[in-house]
Amino acid sequence: MLYSEKVMEHFRNPRNVGQIEDADGVGEVGNAKCGDIMKMYLKIKDGIIEDVKFMTFGCGSAIATSSIATELIKGKPISEALKLTNQVVVEALGGLPAYKLHCSVLAEEAVKAAIKNYYDRNGIEYDESLYMPNDACCTTHSH
Ligand code: FES
Repeated sequence: MLYSEKVMEHFRNPRNVGQIEDADGVGEVGNAKCGDIMKMYLKIKDGIIEDVKFMTFGCGSAIATSSIATELIKGKPISEALKLTNQVVVEALGGLPAYKLHCSVLAEEAVKAAIKNYYDRNGIEYDESLYMPNDACCTTHSH
């Protein structure tokens, strides 16, 4: 089987889809490889991600990975959300076919872009190196 049960389940029934009108941070990233786009909205209070929603014009794997990514960071401190890598997301989903790994990068990058946006809006300093593109599985994606 190509996709794990968990991938299919999140694809059919994605969690936290939508927008947050008064979001504290919004991140939008695109995948140059396929042209898909993802937008992530965060509600942050006292360093905790109280709410998160996402919208995507992306493939099924992008939907499944962002869905599980939102579950993994909801209620967590920003510091933990920053540790979310596409590998963590893929593992949580029980794996992805190799040619679909690049889709999971979109979820990781969207979360980081939204946190960066939150920092920028609030004049909070951050370590730029945390936001460097992740080349772990593909090299053609961009911001
Ligand atoms: Fe574009 Fe999966 S094919 S994100």
